[in-house]
Amino acid sequence: MKDFAREAETLRAELRRHEHLYYVLDQPEVSDAEYDALMRRLRELEEAHPELASPDSPAGRVGGKPREGFVKVRHSAPMLSLDNALNEGELRDFDRRVGELLEGARYTYVAELKLDGLSMAVEYEQGRFRQAVTRGDGSVGEDVTENARTIRSLPLRVDSAWPAFEVRGETVMNRRAFDRLNAERDEQELSRFANPRNAAAGSLRVLEPRITASRRLDYYTYFLMTGGHFALPSHWASLDEMVRMGFKVNPHRKLCASVDEVLEFCAHWETHRQELPYEIDGVVVKVDSVEQQQALGFTARAPRWAIAYKYPARQERTTVVAIEVQVGRTGALTPVAHLQPVAVGGVTVSRATLHNEDEIARLELKIGDEVIIERSGDVIPKVVRVWAQGKGRTAFAMPVNCPVCGGRVVREEGEAARRCINVDCPARLKESILHFASRGVMNIDGVGEALVDQLVDRGLVKSVADLYQLTAEQLLSLERMGEKSAANVLTNIARSKLNPMPRVIAALGIRFVGERTATLLAEALGSLDALAAASADELQGVEEVGPKVAESILQFFREPRNRDLMERLRAASLDFTYVSTRPAAGPLQGLTFVLTGTLPSLSRDRAKALIEHAGGKVAVSVSKKTSFVVAGEDAGSKLDKARTLGIAVVDEQELRRLIEVRE
Ligand code: IVH
Repeated sequence: MKDFAREAETLRAELRRHEHLYYVLDQPEVSDAEYDALMRRLRELEEAHPELASPDSPAGRVGGKPREGFVKVRHSAPMLSLDNALNEGELRDFDRRVGELLEGARYTYVAELKLDGLSMAVEYEQGRFRQAVTRGDGSVGEDVTENARTIRSLPLRVDSAWPAFEVRGETVMNRRAFDRLNAERDEQELSRFANPRNAAAGSLRVLEPRITASRRLDYYTYFLMTGGHFALPSHWASLDEMVRMGFKVNPHRKLCASVDEVLEFCAHWETHRQELPYEIDGVVVKVDSVEQQQALGFTARAPRWAIAYKYPARQERTTVVAIEVQVGRTGALTPVAHLQPVAVGGVTVSRATLHNEDEIARLELKIGDEVIIERSGDVIPKVVRVWAQGKGRTAFAMPVNCPVCGGRVVREEGEAARRCINVDCPARLKESILHFASRGVMNIDGVGEALVDQLVDRGLVKSVADLYQLTAEQLLSLERMGEKSAANVLTNIARSKLNPMPRVIAALGIRFVGERTATLLAEALGSLDALAAASADELQGVEEVGPKVAESILQFFREPRNRDLMERLRAASLDFTYVSTRPAAGPLQGLTFVLTGTLPSLSRDRAKALIEHAGGKVAVSVSKKTSFVVAGEDAGSKLDKARTLGIAVVDEQELRRLIEVRE
């Protein structure tokens, strides 16, 4: 027995060493077959003698049991993001600010590659891997421990000077793993991942650790912390220490004595980034001394001691094979170029917007031309210019009739777009419904493209107001709609009635009236009826509303169909009056509330609006300054914290009473 224990421990040590050589240092000493043989022997031993198994065993990397969901975990210190420098000038500005704030003291920078992945914090206790948490919103992330355990370059046991410490770094998928994954997905007729970053995120946040294990993620560390602080006084020294401990630290880093050296590093990797096996989107520049970092401090969003130097948008060359015309919510016809698929910075691009016919004329573009396309951030790719005219190129002309309904198309004076003026055009209706249901507007989960297509094509929805008349029976008659999803859709539609009134304004789809303008209009006018009745002068009296927006609003309410829509939404009991969110004198003045869990009849936004209307404040986290915690169903850690701090907890009914009694 004892011998088995010793053998298992020796095997684990051997395997750990080989994993480090292979996955971290990229210098294997044994063949895959030899490694597999060692692993097989260890598995045999651990299976035959389960008491020998240990949580940090390399044999445990295959992936444990699937989970129900992810548990939220608060970070030891916030995981902030970085401000960006988009060019040399902005990097020099950053350096000037650092120099000024450090009042002439000498300082050095560490320049590192900015890996395009997902940041993650990993905790160790007594040198053992304990917990891995995604960045989440920066304060609270998701526990992905079991998934992270399968990442081969993340050591499960390390030799460390601290009883407990934490590393932070980037989870990435290299290009080869990404290509292989997408090839597999093609074969299985599954949708492709758009880029390695999405693939890494999708692989880390799955409930089945075996899937993560099969995806070959990599983890590069860049911070070493203990007790919520940096563990060593120099960032560079931390990187070295993590290398020593066996973590994978990106070798392409440089200690720079001046901003010029940093710029040189940035320029070098901008031209060589394609040679790297993974994607980078820039360089991260950090002041090396932790003492100086502390002197520089933070803004609300990001540290003043670091910046991300971002590389400009990626451009590629490809051919325009066709031009298709799409019809949007306002009836605008948008030409879209179909391209020979091309990878732009890791994303396969096969379409690019051409905006309108003037843009096509400006580009002097014809079908068959070779063009330069560009992708910056997450925005839709666009055609920058024609590179070479295609042989047999054919001119494109905007259609005179709507490509969807065949209705008349007009181009109004001073406008770049042609519009389909048929208010019943199915393309327009579909887009209006998608807009109505979208995030930040009425937030109706489950009402996406596939469902909307069916609802409109079958004539079940002829106006957005019809959403509120849908029945379970009607939904069940649709393809791919089970009882559970039908019930969910209906609940989500019903719940959307709780949205505050500015959302309802935004949902109407009035041209130029987005969320922000909707809120300003709501604050100034108080009700939807007042908005519908407002004159051009009254409208222009509202902050940020000019003649163009005012005219668009007037035009909208002049249309009898839109008046009718408004009445039908009122009948569906949507919110037509505004509850101010501006702090005012009221019964709750001087009180701070924290909301947690789901309240029986109030949405988060509504509850917040009610409290603020009554003069109270709403905070996100519980502290000694909190006056009341309003708890609903499934209240989480905030409730526990309130109890430990001895803060009063009320439910929705009590909250309502509080507002009335104090009034
Ligand atoms: S430092 C407070 N170092 O870029 C410091 N971030 O824009 C924040 N990233 O959220 C992070 N490589 O996901 C740092 N060498 C590196 C990085 C890096 C990639 C990502 C990370 C972060 C984002 C900030």
